Amino acid sequence: MKNRIFIAGGGGYIGTVVSKHFLNKGYKIDCLDNFIYKNSFSIDELKKNNDFKLIYGDLRNEKLLKTSIINCDALIILAGLVGDPITKKYPSLSTDINLNATKKLIDISIQNNLKKIIFVSTCSNYGLSETDELLDENAPLKPLSLYAKHKVEIEKYILSLKNTKNFHPTILRFSTAFGLSPRMRFDLTINQFTKSIFLKEKFEVFDSNTWRPYCHVKDFALALERVLEADQKKTSFEVFNVGGDKNNFTKKQITETILKIIPNNDNVSFTNKIFDPRNYRVDFSKINQKLNFEIKYSVEEGIEEIIQHLKSYKKKITGLDQNLYGNYIIKL
Ligand SMILES: NC(=O)c1ccc[n+]([C@@H]2O[C@H](COP(=O)([O-])OP(=O)(O)OC[C@H]3O[C@@H](n4cnc5c(N)ncnc54)[C@H](O)[C@@H]3O)[C@@H](O)[C@H]2O)c1
Repeated sequence: MKNRIFIAGGGGYIGTVVSKHFLNKGYKIDCLDNFIYKNSFSIDELKKNNDFKLIYGDLRNEKLLKTSIINCDALIILAGLVGDPITKKYPSLSTDINLNATKKLIDISIQNNLKKIIFVSTCSNYGLSETDELLDENAPLKPLSLYAKHKVEIEKYILSLKNTKNFHPTILRFSTAFGLSPRMRFDLTINQFTKSIFLKEKFEVFDSNTWRPYCHVKDFALALERVLEADQKKTSFEVFNVGGDKNNFTKKQITETILKIIPNNDNVSFTNKIFDPRNYRVDFSKINQKLNFEIKYSVEEGIEEIIQHLKSYKKKITGLDQNLYGNYIIKL
């Protein structure tokens, strides 16, 4: 029998794709989410599967965590306020959820002897790199935003529990995501640029020469599967960057790639004005060598996929509440 995975934040942009992936592989999913962006529509398809269970509730509800995690074999932590802008807008809620509640969740899962715990962190932790060299997992962390600072704190918390019995955590530093999801986010660089160029919106590309790694949501699901299915010895207390070397892009390169597919657009301009100082290129050889993980999707394929989607849904996308497509306003 396949394992039951508790996914905190399973109703989000990455969580819905990950849930579907594991259901297709025969796992059972217990998804904890309280849909802070009124994004409950995102699990409409998942709910049809008998192996998918929604635990509607808040990560800050300790009692709920204690009663619901009890029958699970593994935990994937995705829930929280995601991104620099939303954590800047709601700093105290971010501290409550991304830091305090996440620590509690880790403590509770230790008490329940789960086989594996995966904390999804971010490559944003690398912050500002002075060089264009590829950064591996040992590179110094320079978190710039509250979002990344909390991620680093949780990473440190997990690693400080090294001698805890029956605790098998893995930290995954995800690249910036792209690709389609039932809970679409058009506030992420590749998705956002593709949508804006497709709709011929006027926009300025800030920090156009800064590097960032990108990864398709479906590739994240695959990476999580590799961790869950690997021998504990290979994953316990390990940190992995998740992505692929060929998907390190500058914002200018992303824009040019989109413009090759949708040419003749005079609405886009480039500037090197510093709006977001993050600049880092990341090395993904550790996850490749240790867990045999390789990305399947290129940035180009992700862009093509979004364009095809926009072609069929143009009217709906332009007409709907922007908050449904990104992390802007919390509606608790
Ligand atoms: N999207 C990216 O580019 C990216 C990159 C690196 C790391 N990550 C990490 O991946 C994870 C998922 O990101 P995402 O893009 O899917 O974000 P998302 O905002 O779409 O999903 C987060 C989910 O968590 C839920 N949630 C928030 N607070 C909650 C609470 N108190 N109780 C219960 N549920 C709560 C939300 O309702 C939402 O469904 C996050 O941990 C994020 O830091 C994302």
